[in-house]
Amino acid sequence: MQRNEIPKIKPYFYDITLRDGNQSLKKPWNLDEKLIIFDKIQELNIPAVEIGFPASSQMDFDSCVELAKKAGEKTKVSVLARAHHGDIERALAAIKDAKNSRLHTFITLSPFHMEYVLNKKPQDVAQIAIDAVDFAKKNIKNPNCDIEFSVEHFGDCEENIDFVIEVLKEIVNKGATTINLPNTVERYRPYRYISLMKKVKENLPSNVIISVHNHNDLGMATATTVESYFSGAIQLECCLNGLGERAGNTDFAQVATILNNNCVDTGINLEKIYETTLLISQMSRVKIYEKAPLVGPEALAHRSGIHQDGAIKTKDMDFGAYRPIKPSIIGRYDDEKIGFTSQSGKTAIYDIIKALKYPITIQESIYLTPIAKEMAESKGELTGEEILELYFNKICNIKGVFELISFKPIEKGVYDLFFNYKGERKEVIGTGNGPIDACLNGLSKLGFDKIKLSYYKQYSLDGDEKGSGASAMSAVSMLDNKNNEIIGRAIDSSTALANVKAIFNALNQVY
Ligand code: KIV
Ligand code: ZN
Repeated sequence: MQRNEIPKIKPYFYDITLRDGNQSLKKPWNLDEKLIIFDKIQELNIPAVEIGFPASSQMDFDSCVELAKKAGEKTKVSVLARAHHGDIERALAAIKDAKNSRLHTFITLSPFHMEYVLNKKPQDVAQIAIDAVDFAKKNIKNPNCDIEFSVEHFGDCEENIDFVIEVLKEIVNKGATTINLPNTVERYRPYRYISLMKKVKENLPSNVIISVHNHNDLGMATATTVESYFSGAIQLECCLNGLGERAGNTDFAQVATILNNNCVDTGINLEKIYETTLLISQMSRVKIYEKAPLVGPEALAHRSGIHQDGAIKTKDMDFGAYRPIKPSIIGRYDDEKIGFTSQSGKTAIYDIIKALKYPITIQESIYLTPIAKEMAESKGELTGEEILELYFNKICNIKGVFELISFKPIEKGVYDLFFNYKGERKEVIGTGNGPIDACLNGLSKLGFDKIKLSYYKQYSLDGDEKGSGASAMSAVSMLDNKNNEIIGRAIDSSTALANVKAIFNALNQVY
């Protein structure tokens, strides 16, 4: 994004969770609940908050009174009122103690709604709107209280946009400083709404703040709001978790994150987004759907091998191969979920085992991948536990021609090795500098000398969640007579036995 494409004026976020969001809930919030959410909105640093609709209920009026008292100068608290005197008086009474406030009044100017819902002539509706703003202006006592006027169903005003503009000019003359243009029901493509919005902006004085308020009936509210900002709108009305009537309002988290991704200084404490989302979901009893952008439980999940490979390779980078942001920007853990299905690949196995704190090489994960894929074909996604079990069974316990029966010390540096080879019992005394040396020495005496130790590693597995009682893992790296590297792993509570089992696992890969 070129810097010169970024609008000079910062976006002004206007939160509508406590009003538009609240009115759509099965159980609207009481004062205590609104207080918790109001605090969260302030933590996000959203400068303007519509705290309620005082004429809608006594509970909402009382909540607005308390929130208005509580809010400091930094936060503009706004209340909604229909375009009639009774509502406006009630609204102004609710915010009388606020330091920085707004009266927000509205009426539809859409031809369809004026005719079929209000049953009024356009000129009569225009007069109601102008009169409401005039009445509000004359009754506002607080110099820090301004007026917002909304054209309900603005998105349906294509055919009478010139009329709407003329009414808005009058409304601005009467004292409204913010003109909000709701796409009350989303019906058409964003371009059509934005063209109308631009026309209004061009025809009103430049000091009028143009606001957008997009409902999400067709799923494009975020796009429309973001593009509206790049086309001249300043105030962006958004709702936490995209709550709101029907399919909701514009989702705040999405808009703020998208603008941030496009080099816009949002002024928002983005790192508070994720925790706020969880809180709002809990308080609204509206679940976050699995695939919700940015915040959904599955929004950071990768299941195809190609995506997993890219995701893992770019894990710690700011720019991820298969994610739009670094999740910690919105306060989410940076862990991208790697889920293993029949579509997944070796990198997933490697990453899952590593994440469970077990050692694995990429060769070992290549070996495990087809086995895991086959299992996942019938079962679906494998859990970490299941992959770990596969790792234990196929890597740490390799079945083959060798079968260890016992390995017992006789005296220092001398061991009795007892095993089956192709079903035939074998016993030998091995000597050496420790169990590995002694075991290899015994094997070599019997002619099994195809492998040579190249290195050896011991891992402590204390706290092993599988409850296997295992406490140590040995890994031996051997070279066969063609210099191929073979890794044998084994787990046992006795370190000596873990070592010998690891050698037998390596032998079973060679013979
Ligand atoms: O969607 C809408 O039209 C509204 C107005 C009341 C602003 O919420
Ligand atoms: Zn609305």
